[in-house]
Amino acid sequence: MTELKNDRYLRALLRQSVDRTPIWMMRQAGRYLPEYREVRAQAGDFMALCKNPELASEVTLQPLRRFPFDAAILFSDILTIPDAMGLGLYFETGEGPKFSRPIQSRADVDKIGIPDPECELQYVMNAVRQIRHDLKGSVPLIGFSGSPWTLATYMVEGGSSKAFTKIKKMMYAEPETLHSLLDKLADSVILYLNAQIKAGAQSVMVFDTWGGVLTPRDYRDFSLQYMHKIVDGLIKEHDGNQVPVTLFTKNGGMWLEQIAATGCDAIGLDWTINIEDAKARVGGQVALQGNMDPSMLYAPAQRIRDEVAQILAGFGEGSGHVFNLGHGIHLDVPPENVDIFVNAVHELSIPYHK
Ligand code: CP3
Repeated sequence: MTELKNDRYLRALLRQSVDRTPIWMMRQAGRYLPEYREVRAQAGDFMALCKNPELASEVTLQPLRRFPFDAAILFSDILTIPDAMGLGLYFETGEGPKFSRPIQSRADVDKIGIPDPECELQYVMNAVRQIRHDLKGSVPLIGFSGSPWTLATYMVEGGSSKAFTKIKKMMYAEPETLHSLLDKLADSVILYLNAQIKAGAQSVMVFDTWGGVLTPRDYRDFSLQYMHKIVDGLIKEHDGNQVPVTLFTKNGGMWLEQIAATGCDAIGLDWTINIEDAKARVGGQVALQGNMDPSMLYAPAQRIRDEVAQILAGFGEGSGHVFNLGHGIHLDVPPENVDIFVNAVHELSIPYHK
């Protein structure tokens, strides 16, 4: 394997010393870049793009040609697993993801199998292999998956949701049905992420976008428990290197201690918590990733730089911080502002790593 030229991201996740704070950006490949929109049009649609390893690799690398990010993230989606389970994923313009055969009953849950990552999901592994080849060791590659709870919300609701009434009805009226679904999803995610690691992903992240809509008890029983099972089931080392795992629960700031107790290496933070408070609570156990509000990228250059300076000062000296947005970049952000953001992080973080 080619030697990694920039390992800041992996070192920061393992809380080892770095020369500056590494940065990557959630949804760094995507519609805010005109070159992405061009390649997506060439592919036909979003899923066709995900299923074509050369094009998926091309869009993964696009943001790295423009901005000095310290990591690449696999171009794919969290909904590949439910799609491989036979739910029929499709995207309706302006409405987000939808499933033609959502989960509605115990019988539906009993019917679904655990996808073989090198069979139904081989296109994802092929993309990982292609991206690793094309990156030529410039920066590490992040693999990812949705959390069981977050995947289940899409599978039971049949798409995106605001109030999550269908899945909450299942949770309270038929908890065993939901647990059975979440358990199958956790097993699927373990196989899927381990296959990504074997194919070349150097770190993995679990997106629990909707864990924050749960009560504290339900978060523990219906989301965190299954992420804990995933952390326990992941390969810890590959090719002689540690493979750090990051858990991100959006709106999960009140549960940092419990998330850290899963044994994950890092916790992703949204913007609703001060990073200094997060560090005081769990900084001795895990690295932190985040936590700028994605809407800050609409601000003038000086306001973006001031915010970066505040967050860096909040984390303070030493390693264990990966800079990021608290959620994905909005699609109408001018790319020039991303440049201001990335350069501010690199420049302003140097004094914290003497
Ligand atoms: O650059 C990257 O971050 C890597 C690629 C990536 C995508 N989706 C590409 C994508 C990643 C890591 C994801 C994760 C994902 N997908 C999550 C978890 C993180 C989060 O944002 O909360 C979730 C909840 C999804 C589900 C999903 N996929 C939704 C809700 C949508 C539609 C919303 C939208 O932005 O339109 C998608 C589609 C999707 N996934 C797009 C991209 C670039 C847009 C598709 C297009 O080109 O039209």
